[in-house]
Amino acid sequence: MSEFVVTGGSALAGTVSVLGAKNAVLKQQVAALLAPGKHLLENVPHIVDVELMGRVLEYVGAECVLDSHTLTIDVPEEITPEAPLDLVRQMRASILVLGPLLARSGTVRVALPGGDDLGARPVDMHIEGLRQLGADFELRHGVLEGSAPDGLRGAEVAFDFPSVGATENVLLAAVLAKGETIIDNAAREPELEDLAAYLNAMGAQITGAGTSTIRILGVEQLQPATHRVVPDRVEAGTYAIAGAITAGEVTVADCVPDHLRMELRKLQEAGCGVEAGEDWVRVSGPKRPAALNFATLPYPGFATDLHPQMVALLATAEGTSVITENVYESRFKYIGELSRMGADISTDWQHAVIRGVPYLSGCPVVAPDIRAGASLVLAALRAEGYSTISETHHIDRGYEGFVEKLNALGADIQARP
Ligand code: UD1
Repeated sequence: MSEFVVTGGSALAGTVSVLGAKNAVLKQQVAALLAPGKHLLENVPHIVDVELMGRVLEYVGAECVLDSHTLTIDVPEEITPEAPLDLVRQMRASILVLGPLLARSGTVRVALPGGDDLGARPVDMHIEGLRQLGADFELRHGVLEGSAPDGLRGAEVAFDFPSVGATENVLLAAVLAKGETIIDNAAREPELEDLAAYLNAMGAQITGAGTSTIRILGVEQLQPATHRVVPDRVEAGTYAIAGAITAGEVTVADCVPDHLRMELRKLQEAGCGVEAGEDWVRVSGPKRPAALNFATLPYPGFATDLHPQMVALLATAEGTSVITENVYESRFKYIGELSRMGADISTDWQHAVIRGVPYLSGCPVVAPDIRAGASLVLAALRAEGYSTISETHHIDRGYEGFVEKLNALGADIQARP
């Protein structure tokens, strides 16, 4: 198990670049399965989740090679429409193969993911959405078996909640369905819009991606395409908060500040300096941030994947902040670790009350998941003395070169195997 030893106290300064979004690449990897031939995805980060999705694709029969941030995916005519339990368990996003495999093969078998560290996270909306397109599902021995004996056909699908994954699964199936599909109350995340752009480059006919109503006119077949993955707003936001929390000044390059409007507004409210151009943002932090309230919501609301990093910042705010987590039922598990560093935070169901303290003190903590792990590293950069963050393999799932990038900005972090 890998760990980071972080010596706090340095104000970070300089420029850091971000790569393509994890949450976009993973869906584009499965989207490639819709068209036999050679696809190229550019700006792809070397992260564990991309590797894991590569293994899912290899199981299905495709070949994936990641070289200098370009991922080549070679998809054969004949595929195996299955995703096995060991891979689905390691990465919930594997469930996104349902749509494309049904569309390509008319059948699919995917082991059902269980609950995870962020709560139960069911896939009921994915299944219901695909049922509307004519698929039947049965759960046998923990494996979800789907079929569309008469092929998929366009339908109106309205979601109770704009689930990112469920919207994507329906989109991935609808592109090859007969007729028109309309998805209402669709997720509006930039990664979903980027998926639609890639699918359109493959020959799909999708309009309205990035809004609450997406229209898809099914086509007979798709062709392989080359696509540059949208920059990772969560990676960008994490480095922006690293600048803020250390009272430093960090410029994040190769990002889309427009995708971080809500988060940057909140950083300004906390007293941070924020300047932005089209593809860069510079954030500087005050000695102690001002307290504020925020609630996580589907895009364009405050991103749940930046909630733990923001809480780390607010831990040393002047005053009391209240945050509400609306997307996940259980995203507060890391709070106990932050409290070990001296943060004064109480939680009640969806809410966390953060009473700002003047300083944090370094200690050993455990990273429970990707974003909470990043948050603990940020808190450790602010804390007096040194901290050991263990189980950092979680962080490797979503950040390429996290330690190297932070050290290049002046952090003092040693990674140990
Ligand atoms: C994606 C992102 C994740 C991000 C989340 C919300 C990927 C790989 N992951 O996850 O990093 O935090 O969007 O922005 O892109 N739900 C149901 N039933 C369903 C589907 C979802 O109850 O069928 C619930 C989930 O349990 C969760 C909430 O809806 O509480 C949001 O989930 P969703 O928007 O689907 O997120 P993911 O696609 O899983």
